[in-house]
Amino acid sequence: MASTPTDSVPVGNPQAAGIIYVQGVPTPETRLTLGGAISVSPMAIGTWAWGDSVWGYKPEMFDDIAATWDTLQDESSGINFFDTAEIYGKGESENIIGRLLKKNRQEGKPLPIIATKFLPYPWKWSYPSSLLNALKGSIERLGVDVIDLYQIHGPIHLRSVEVVADALAEAVKLGLVKSVGVSNYSIDQMVRMHAALAKHGIQLASNQVEFSLLRRHPETSGLIAKCHELGVAVLAYSPLGMGRLTGKYTAENPPPSGRRFSNYPMTELSPLLAVMDRIAKKHSVPMSAVALNYTIAKGTIPLGGARNPEQARQNVKAFGWRLSDMEVEELDGVALIGDKGIFWQHG
Ligand SMILES: NC(=O)c1ccc[n+]([C@@H]2O[C@H](COP(=O)([O-])OP(=O)(O)OC[C@H]3O[C@@H](n4cnc5c(N)ncnc54)[C@H](OP(=O)(O)O)[C@@H]3O)[C@@H](O)[C@H]2O)c1
Repeated sequence: MASTPTDSVPVGNPQAAGIIYVQGVPTPETRLTLGGAISVSPMAIGTWAWGDSVWGYKPEMFDDIAATWDTLQDESSGINFFDTAEIYGKGESENIIGRLLKKNRQEGKPLPIIATKFLPYPWKWSYPSSLLNALKGSIERLGVDVIDLYQIHGPIHLRSVEVVADALAEAVKLGLVKSVGVSNYSIDQMVRMHAALAKHGIQLASNQVEFSLLRRHPETSGLIAKCHELGVAVLAYSPLGMGRLTGKYTAENPPPSGRRFSNYPMTELSPLLAVMDRIAKKHSVPMSAVALNYTIAKGTIPLGGARNPEQARQNVKAFGWRLSDMEVEELDGVALIGDKGIFWQHG
């Protein structure tokens, strides 16, 4: 499985890097090229809930997760891309995916693309060793030889962007990762990372930020446009508003506590949810598919979480159609802009 990623990775050239967002209708066959190195579906499955106590995970939930995974391994689902992180469930999310990848190998099924993340705690001062050690831990838990996409989880590192870029480049040169990305980076931080990696001949593959109908900030700030200009794919996290945009939660039945991103009272979301519901009925799709299709229409790759096969089946209904410009405009009018944060969400 080892690869030679540096041979063919183009630098800072969006055309050479390949298509990084969907411009027409997303289909199960659509593939996007990130960092000139990996070929991914126009939507990924986020796996924070697989193994993490924030989501109330218990080991007996593994069977539901395995069934969700199996549903998505069917080619007709269109999904070949999963996002995890070393911190999710303190490694348990990666362990679970490692078990599921092993099952694919035993059953002779293709292996999907896996993105994971390094949490650059400020006290992880020593680069590249802190990053390389964490990377080796992820490789072991996932049971792979090479990570497809390795991301810096947040801009909280005290060392400079250039020092972190050198460590990522070292990981690429060692053949331990195929492509590299960042998360929660501001426009300026991302531009710096893009330039620092370019000096190593590496294209920055992605910037992962919270983007949804509850947080249009990456669009209104110009971050998405800048990413596209630089050939950097935008991975949209919490695209379902941590469940708030699925129609399941209401003012009477709010989401469980602890779902901290875009944590608005459900009463504030009523105008938005009413428009989503009408559009969903018109297209005969679940509300979750409207939320995901919106983020695709805005030039991003959503990372929607799914905890059971039914949620996975509903969410892949974001494929096969596209919101009209008028519908996008109507949704823009009731969507929330959100904001950035000092500590975590710079982008
Ligand atoms: N880089 C970062 O800082 C960062 C931060 C946050 C997330 N992420 C990534 O983004 C991924 C997605 O974000 P997220 O997990 O926060 O939230 P999300 O995708 O907005 O929401 C996922 C949750 O919504 C519910 N849901 C999903 N589909 C549904 C459906 N069809 N009907 C009803 N409920 C449904 C499920 O929870 P319930 O069934 O329990 O309601 C599911 O776990 C994460 O898994 C992670 O990979 C990254």
